[in-house]
Amino acid sequence: GAAELGPYRHYMQKEIFEQPRAIGDTLEGVNGITPELFGDGAYGIFKQIDRVLILACGTSYYSGCAAKYWLEEIAQIPTQVEVASEYRYRTSVPDPRTLVVTITQSGETADTLAALRHAQSLGMAHTLTICNVATSAMVRECRLAYITRAGVEIGVASTKAFTTQLAGLFLLTLALAQVRGRLSDEQEAAHLKAMRHLPVALQAVLALEPQVISWAEDFARMDNALFLGRGLHYPIALEGALKLKEISYIHAEAYPAGELKHGPLALVTSAMPVVTVAPNDALLEKLKSNMQEVRARGGVLYVLADADTRIGSGEGIHVIRMPEHYGALSPILHVVPLQLLAYHTALARGTDVDKPRNLAKSVTVE
Ligand code: G6P
Repeated sequence: GAAELGPYRHYMQKEIFEQPRAIGDTLEGVNGITPELFGDGAYGIFKQIDRVLILACGTSYYSGCAAKYWLEEIAQIPTQVEVASEYRYRTSVPDPRTLVVTITQSGETADTLAALRHAQSLGMAHTLTICNVATSAMVRECRLAYITRAGVEIGVASTKAFTTQLAGLFLLTLALAQVRGRLSDEQEAAHLKAMRHLPVALQAVLALEPQVISWAEDFARMDNALFLGRGLHYPIALEGALKLKEISYIHAEAYPAGELKHGPLALVTSAMPVVTVAPNDALLEKLKSNMQEVRARGGVLYVLADADTRIGSGEGIHVIRMPEHYGALSPILHVVPLQLLAYHTALARGTDVDKPRNLAKSVTVE
């Protein structure tokens, strides 16, 4: 009811603004990295596995896509991410030394549960879930679990569940890195410090809302939008596009920026805004040349730039500068302005933000 919404107009908006609390709660009590954060016997299981298979749907699938970059870079463990509805019906090559990781807000998504059971039937017994509902079927059926503490999520478009999943997946990355001898005490301390800073960092990103609202006024008049990212931020571009299509009904697609020239560049005109997630990482220079390709075709850029990048606003380039540079945790921060962009664009278009047409919060039948 209205009372629960407090000062907010919609649950989605409330849930976006709850993220500092949700992440803080999800990481509460984590005073050091240990496999046992995932349950009794986790150390023994982590010792036996040499690959990771992530299975999920929707927004949860995109958090898995981001985690793949962490798992391969930080824990140096080969990782595959697959949409649950694809995995459950295809012939794949099982490997009993796989850690099967399901990611699900509800813990009841039919395809994700079926994909888990399919993996188990193929002889993969090492299972772990990142889940927001402790009493769910998924938690009962997986050997190990990390329960995110986003709290009840009501908006159909997932927001705080996504960022808390990322926090859980980052912990999993660190625990696997530790077991594999790839996490020094200094690295562990630095990562923990960065994680503890997340609630404050998120608060500062939420304060960018007025700037995002001015972008949303432009987007509300568009029929299409393109989202670009590279590396760890390609899944964030995917999630940004998903949010926009789910609630504003604007056709949106995401591409890894290096693929621009292999197709989507043909679509770029002044009627196709291009959102670019541009953290100041090793790929920034490459991303800048992708942005020039967009400008050369008259495309209008909306850039989320890190604090220390030198990309500036100008003709056809709108920049929102992130308050800080966040290192490995950057996806958790960069997704927030994209959530707000979808929210305010939908608001301007007058759609039913919390209950978008044709979509359900939890898809418990196939
Ligand atoms: C539905 C929801 C999405 C969610 C997806 C997976 O499509 O609308 O927000 O990401 O299901 O749900 P799960 O509960 O498994 O994370």
